[in-house]
Amino acid sequence: MDSQSNQKDETASGAPYHVGIIMDGNGRWAQRRGLPRLAGHQAGVDNIRRILESSVEHGIKVLTLYAFSTENWGRPPEEVRGLMRLLGLTIRRQLNELDRNGVQIRHSGRLAGINPELQDQIRHALEVTQHNDRIILNVAFNYGGRAEILDAVRHIIADGINPDDLTEDLFSRYLYTCDLPDPDLIIRTGGEWRLSNFLIWQAAYAEYYTTPTFWPDFDEAELHKALVEYAARERRFGRVLQS
Ligand code: FPP
Repeated sequence: MDSQSNQKDETASGAPYHVGIIMDGNGRWAQRRGLPRLAGHQAGVDNIRRILESSVEHGIKVLTLYAFSTENWGRPPEEVRGLMRLLGLTIRRQLNELDRNGVQIRHSGRLAGINPELQDQIRHALEVTQHNDRIILNVAFNYGGRAEILDAVRHIIADGINPDDLTEDLFSRYLYTCDLPDPDLIIRTGGEWRLSNFLIWQAAYAEYYTTPTFWPDFDEAELHKALVEYAARERRFGRVLQS
């Protein structure tokens, strides 16, 4: 297989197969309303449901959400605790409905470092939904792209892989996203133009879209706009297209 083997072409509808979202701007959304930052994160969680539903309607098959980065441990302890609590609460409250709606939940990131009770909840959510196939909701939690690459290298060494046998395709299979195709489109809300250590290996050929809209305000119309812009892009994967 060649270096683009993880690149799945578009869905039948022309929508990207795999979309990654950097859900930025929760803090500023809250601040503008005179609310605590955690209220912004709660609004961010509430927004996930409508974007997930809209993604299904557009025919997107994999949605990866950047929910907590390895760098986010550096936030004030109260905010870190709040984000952990939010994930636990969300799993408790939403798991049944997500399962009924055919959502397969995945986790990308390190479980180590997360409190053991939350780890169990995450494992439970993955197990319960593992056979669902309407859409994959891949939650990047305690995720860092560089940490992911280091973890892959550690496993490759531990498995005794011969350096000459290491290909891009084999390497990809050691990443947290091992059996998922690479993202076609990365969306970042909140106005920044950075990947912030998100899917840095997998996004090598992804289209990038950023909007100043804060994540809690990123609604169905905003997603539609991003998809229209994606559809207008010509993806060459480094090649020159002949007409
Ligand atoms: C960035 O906003 C967002 C995050 C740190 C993570 C996104 C988190 C959620 C949507 C909620 C958590 C989700 C789950 C499933 C637990 P920011 O705080 O950096 O915003 P700012 O740039 O305006 O300060």
